[in-house]
Amino acid sequence: MTWHMGFPRLMSVVILSALASMAAAPPVSKARAQEIYHGKCEKCHGPDGHAKEKGSGMSFADGEWNQGSDLKTIVAVITDGVPETGMRGFKNQLTADEIQALAKYVRSLDKRLDK
Ligand code: HEC
Repeated sequence: MTWHMGFPRLMSVVILSALASMAAAPPVSKARAQEIYHGKCEKCHGPDGHAKEKGSGMSFADGEWNQGSDLKTIVAVITDGVPETGMRGFKNQLTADEIQALAKYVRSLDKRLDK
């Protein structure tokens, strides 16, 4: 009886830990974040965060942050976008880990921020 009760439980532990290890994606590197930035963000925000258009909230390397320069805000902006602006959300194109890495990369472009 105990065997019958115990075995399925043991199996579910084995299966769940296998699934958990599959779900743990490798961390997104800075190089990968840079690559995504180059592909998806650069055309508006400039190659190193110096956008051509000044004063539009797009030139964050100049310390110009409309929404806020903390990591949480930047993650939210990249995830959901800024309504009524050219900044669309990227949650359908990027994973949460990619957005996190990208947000850190974007912050690193503003040399005045404490990292
Ligand atoms: C089509 C042009 C466009 C593209 C592509 C784009 N953005 Fe933006 N982004 C904007 C505009 C316009 C704003 C300013 C919104 C506002 O008025 O605050 C903005 C704002 C931002 C902000 C907030 C800046 C602040 O002042 O607080 C961040 C962070 C940001 N974008 C990151 C990204 C990242 C990362 C990508 C690529 C995944 C990206 N953007 C792609 C146009 C774009």
